[in-house]
Amino acid sequence: KERSFIMIKPNGVQRGLIGEVIKRFEQKGYKLVAMKFMQASEEHMQKHYTHLQSKAFYPGLCKYMSSSPVVPMVWEGLDVVRTGRVMLGETNPGDSLPGTIRGDFCLHVGRNLVHGSDSIENANKEIALWFREDEIVTYTAGQYDWVYDD
Ligand code: GTP
Ligand code: MG
Repeated sequence: KERSFIMIKPNGVQRGLIGEVIKRFEQKGYKLVAMKFMQASEEHMQKHYTHLQSKAFYPGLCKYMSSSPVVPMVWEGLDVVRTGRVMLGETNPGDSLPGTIRGDFCLHVGRNLVHGSDSIENANKEIALWFREDEIVTYTAGQYDWVYDD
């Protein structure tokens, strides 16, 4: 089963949108298998965004992301990496359609509310950076047969 790393950023927490983001993934049919509420260190955010090290916004991004609590999560289900990104919208909220999380709840690229893994390979790396293996919960979701036809 495919997994994606989805994280509510500091402004999602501060603006009271934790439930809204979780609701959308739940309603879609995805299964929550891990979640934390925490304030991460700047060093941890530097590791999370290491691929953006060369960008001018990287220091500010890592500082911002560690300035206030975040909600890192692991969601599981069919095509969750690709479909999760569709649900988030574009990196720039201004290019995100209404109906997406970024399209509905934010304006600025540096305050785009939620992170989502951009490939299965990166999802696995990010999950390993944020969660220990024993923090990921294995269980059967009661709705399974009402979500999947297989
Ligand atoms: P994530 O799901 O957060 O990884 O976003 P993304 O995959 O759509 O974009 P990317 O990985 O390229 O960039 C990571 C984050 O850096 C974005 O979500 C933005 O918050 C931030 N970012 C990207 N481009 C810019 C920019 O031009 N200016 C600022 N201030 N922030 C940016
Ligand atoms: Mg990204």
